[in-house]
Amino acid sequence: MSVSPSLSPTDIIIFGGNGDLALRKILPALYYRYRDGQLPENSRIVGIGRAVLTPESQYTDMVKKACVEHVAPADFDAAVWKQFAQHIHYAAVDAEDSKAYAQLTAFFTKQSHLVRVFYLATPADVFGTICRNLHQAGLIIPDARVVLEKPIGHDLMSFRAINNEVLKYFEERQVYRIDHYLGKETVQNLMILRFANNLFEKVWNSGAVDHVQITVAESLGVESRARYYDKYGAVRDMIQNHLLQLLCLIAMEPPAKLEPDILRDEKLKVLRSLRPFTGRDTIRDTVRGQYRAGAVGGQPVLGYIEDIGQKKSDTDTFVALKAHVDNWRWSGVPFYLRTGKRLPQRYSEIVVQFRPVPHQIFPDQGAEQQNNKLIIRLQPDESIKLEMITKVPGPGGYRLKPVHLNLSLSEEFEDRTPDAYERLLMDVVRGNPTLFMRSDEVEAAWVWTESILKGWDDNNQKPKPYIAGSWGPADASALMTQDNRRWHETD
Ligand code: BG6
Repeated sequence: MSVSPSLSPTDIIIFGGNGDLALRKILPALYYRYRDGQLPENSRIVGIGRAVLTPESQYTDMVKKACVEHVAPADFDAAVWKQFAQHIHYAAVDAEDSKAYAQLTAFFTKQSHLVRVFYLATPADVFGTICRNLHQAGLIIPDARVVLEKPIGHDLMSFRAINNEVLKYFEERQVYRIDHYLGKETVQNLMILRFANNLFEKVWNSGAVDHVQITVAESLGVESRARYYDKYGAVRDMIQNHLLQLLCLIAMEPPAKLEPDILRDEKLKVLRSLRPFTGRDTIRDTVRGQYRAGAVGGQPVLGYIEDIGQKKSDTDTFVALKAHVDNWRWSGVPFYLRTGKRLPQRYSEIVVQFRPVPHQIFPDQGAEQQNNKLIIRLQPDESIKLEMITKVPGPGGYRLKPVHLNLSLSEEFEDRTPDAYERLLMDVVRGNPTLFMRSDEVEAAWVWTESILKGWDDNNQKPKPYIAGSWGPADASALMTQDNRRWHETD
């Protein structure tokens, strides 16, 4: 294992170190980066949690179990693990107790590192307190960085309060607001598709595009996150961040350079062009749903309220909506977004539906059949398909049929696709904020999301039930059919 020589030794301090995110995602990602020689030697990983775990090896054992579970068996190497384990430490600290930070100060003075990453894998309402306590304990060195998990806040006001508190102690350049969708290889590939191929730019606008669909469907329910989820719901958990980021990458203007702020400026312009929902718009253009008991993948599953162990809840587990990007390029092109839990299958897909040819010379076979479509599958199996209209061979006149030009990226590139967290963690270590959200981006996303929340509130719009294993409430299809369109049916 040769270690990347250019990176400074780094301390990665994970608040919420024994929580679900740390064990499922962050630590396995660090294992992979260590295995591939990217984590500088002399780096240390410090899990922070409330629980007292003595000896420290209790924590290492916990991390080992998580790595065995979440690293592919072929990639888990006992010898590498042994070396990796030597970099892992644990400190029992109540993040809200300022005095408890003294032991961290003692730990860090033992070895002075050049880069210090504080990863806050905790609920956002303690971000401010942790940052204040880190500051008071003198732990924020010039090369310190703080990573904040989404969603930051519950609405615009709480986002501002948390963000302002964090920015009292860290400069904007030190703050890495994570949206793990931006770390997905396939999502980065959206930029390559658009800005490294000359083919699409000329048709990437309202002149040629009829509408765009973005679907992030999940078959799982809320799992063990009931407390968090019930407070947030699908619109805050998914639309405000992941789906809006995907929308930005599809809708943004080509950046002049691949520089963090230049790219983020372009995304910000899209977010600021989103038309807010006013008056009764949400009734017409948004659908809220909540799953009831049903079956997914042939297995019976409980409904949402049974899952969270409550009698009643008005939280959305499904949202579909029609958004508008009011700018020169996209005027009149609706963006339909859809996400939900307990849908029939897990997949994320973007469909760019092109307009029909301006003058049709072949017999009419229904408008739908005669338009091109670009279907970008982000997960689970990455592919890019272009639906082309062709002639069905043989007699019978000109019978048209859409067929696929099909590029399967998983077949083309056989290497393992790294998890989003691997890329993002290394970007933090390297100090590259390109794939992280700037304050003003998150703020703009909240401004627009809040117009939905307000519409729901003002119009008393409650989630409609849908059966687990279906594609959401019937209104989600109506959202499209009222515009003479329909959701792309995945294979
Ligand atoms: C997280 C949400 O940000 O993204 C989860 O909080 C969701 O509710 C998850 O399940 C989906 O991520 P992925 O990478 O599995 O598509």
